[in-house]
Amino acid sequence: MANIILVGSQWGDEGKGKVVDIYTEFADVVIRFQGGGNAGHTIVIGDQQIILHQIPSGICHPDKLCIIGNGMVLDLETLVEEIELLRKNGYFFDDSQLLISEEVHLVMPYHRLLDVGKEKKAGDKKIGTTGRGIGPAYADKINRTGIRFIDLFDENVFREKLEINLAEKNPYLANQLDQPECNGNELFEKFTALGENLKPHLTNTSVTINRLIQEGKNILFEGAQGALLDIDHGTYPYVTSSSTTAGAACTGCGIGPTKIDGVVGIVKAYSTRVGEGPFPTEQHNEIGERLQEHGKEFGATTGRPRRCGWIDTVVLRHAVRVNGLTSLALTKLDVLSGMEKIKICRAYRIDGCEVAEFPANIQKVADSAPVYEEVEGWNQDISAVRRNEDLPSAAKNYINVLQELLGVEFILISVGAKRDGTILLKNPFTLERI
Ligand code: GDP
Ligand code: IMO
Ligand code: MG
Repeated sequence: MANIILVGSQWGDEGKGKVVDIYTEFADVVIRFQGGGNAGHTIVIGDQQIILHQIPSGICHPDKLCIIGNGMVLDLETLVEEIELLRKNGYFFDDSQLLISEEVHLVMPYHRLLDVGKEKKAGDKKIGTTGRGIGPAYADKINRTGIRFIDLFDENVFREKLEINLAEKNPYLANQLDQPECNGNELFEKFTALGENLKPHLTNTSVTINRLIQEGKNILFEGAQGALLDIDHGTYPYVTSSSTTAGAACTGCGIGPTKIDGVVGIVKAYSTRVGEGPFPTEQHNEIGERLQEHGKEFGATTGRPRRCGWIDTVVLRHAVRVNGLTSLALTKLDVLSGMEKIKICRAYRIDGCEVAEFPANIQKVADSAPVYEEVEGWNQDISAVRRNEDLPSAAKNYINVLQELLGVEFILISVGAKRDGTILLKNPFTLERI
């Protein structure tokens, strides 16, 4: 009987999908509350790898309910593909397993074209977005010109909104961004059909979620991206266009903050980042290459190689604070096996001073020199370890040093991409030892 938010603590791709899949065992309901198809959450079950972009990562548990909350921006065309892919892999045959908020804003084809066109035009000033239309879709939402799922079922409203949007966007696409224009009638036909197709999933999810909370269900809120990609708390403007931190779970689902019992931060054992923007502990050397290769660090959405570097506790303490993290899950610890020494960034040196808090000025972040603490590495392959006590002492020490620097406890250690590559220390809902 608890409601737990799970969020990324770095620049995304921490292994949220894997941990959500594991935690779904303990949950009744899994809910996505922000972001959209920019997310790529990987689950590995046996030899099968499934990458989820918009559907919550609990979907491979047939007896658990998944919900797409109002705070997401939903691309119906790719949602249909995601559903088909799940069915091909033997999952999600019961339509009632997925509910979608009728208030959710839609990512339209013109959002994707705007995203890609603006990035191209920006040249070396680009953000390095996933090209999924996320920024333009959230911009329309805030600008009050967005199209919500419920709008598809009122012909006049939908036509009028399309007309207003295309009158503004088509000339901009064609004249400024060198992108094709969108045809209003085609969009109307296509999205009306998609809406009818997906209608069985549609409901007032705020009412449903609040009822489930009242019934005492265990609810897991699945964040996308990570704290440093948050629109307010990240390395702005090199961020995504949503609030990726824990507070967004409430607004993104239509529940009150009084209902939240805990927040789990997912922490990768080193740092990665896709796209542009400052990254103080990035390693442009054989260490970075080794992490990239051993960690198979390629974007789950775009396939781009991820930039890699040492773990950064300035970043992580920032994530602890802005999310109010109550526990942590450490992932990809196995990737560090075989490194003689491991570095942990504990502060930044900026203009000759040691700084412990993440600076708001991203130029300062970019110019900062990480202050490292070095710990011993371990040689053993730890991917088969299933109990904390069986980890090499150097790995246990690494975890302890992090825990001390962050002041929050690790309740899960992940040592492999598969479900069973996991050391479960505590039940995330009850915090009882396992
Ligand atoms: P997410 O966006 O936070 O869900 O993370 P991604 O799925 O984008 O990236 C994490 C990658 O690491 C995926 O390929 C996972 O299969 C993989 N992974 C997750 N946990 C572990 C782990 O403990 N060890 C290893 N070696 N791989 C992991
Ligand atoms: P998950 O949920 C890593 C990054 C993009 C880019 C910036 C803005 O899998 O952790 P956007 O398309 O959102 O406008 O791009 O944010 N980005 C992610 N990086 N993991 C993600 O999601 C990301 N979603 C967006 O690379 O730098
Ligand atoms: Mg990802």
